[in-house]
Amino acid sequence: MTATRVDHDSLGPVNVAGDRKSTRSIRGADLVVRNLEAQGVRHVFGVPGAKIGLVRHPIQPVMKKELPMFKTKNDLAQDVRSKTVVLLNSRLADCIDLQTQTKQAHWNVKGPHFIALHELFDEINEDVEDYVDTIAERAVQLGGTVEGTARAVAARSTLSEYPLTITSGLEHVAALAGALAAFGKQVRQGIGQADELGDADTADVFTEVSRGIDKWLWMVEAHLQQ
Ligand SMILES: [Fe+2]
Repeated sequence: MTATRVDHDSLGPVNVAGDRKSTRSIRGADLVVRNLEAQGVRHVFGVPGAKIGLVRHPIQPVMKKELPMFKTKNDLAQDVRSKTVVLLNSRLADCIDLQTQTKQAHWNVKGPHFIALHELFDEINEDVEDYVDTIAERAVQLGGTVEGTARAVAARSTLSEYPLTITSGLEHVAALAGALAAFGKQVRQGIGQADELGDADTADVFTEVSRGIDKWLWMVEAHLQQ
């Protein structure tokens, strides 16, 4: 297992691509990323002294494959509906992945701020579950088929693997902030993509989700800000 030290001086992504052995320290912040190269890590989120959340994959805003469509009296053109369903299934995979990550944090967080973080992470989970349902049902309304099983989601999600060995509040806060930011970026891109496809309602769905994710990112990130 390769351990690589990377620098970090603010919240948000730190580009470490192609420089896995670099070591710099800014304001005392340094984070250790294991198996960086093997996992194809591109961005690191974290705080000084805390473990990290990772964004492993490049941005993949839209699935390549188009699924069979059901007939519907919905007046949107089939081409528009079919492409929008692909987009919705892509963001659905990310959203389900995010939901499992919030539960992972809810269950495993420990330390002096346990109860506050345990409850915060469950509140996030509840909202994210609503986003999952809204995105999935929009795809079905358009005549599409939802691919929301754990295996389909694991294969498709653009989010990074949530670290399974972290325990402290700060570590979970950093990891979840990374996941929320990564999903927030994808879903914000989805607003413009749905608009370009000609589906203002799907753009509205993504706008609602994006607004909620921005709120939860604030609630989580505030633990890291001074
Ligand atoms: Fe619970």
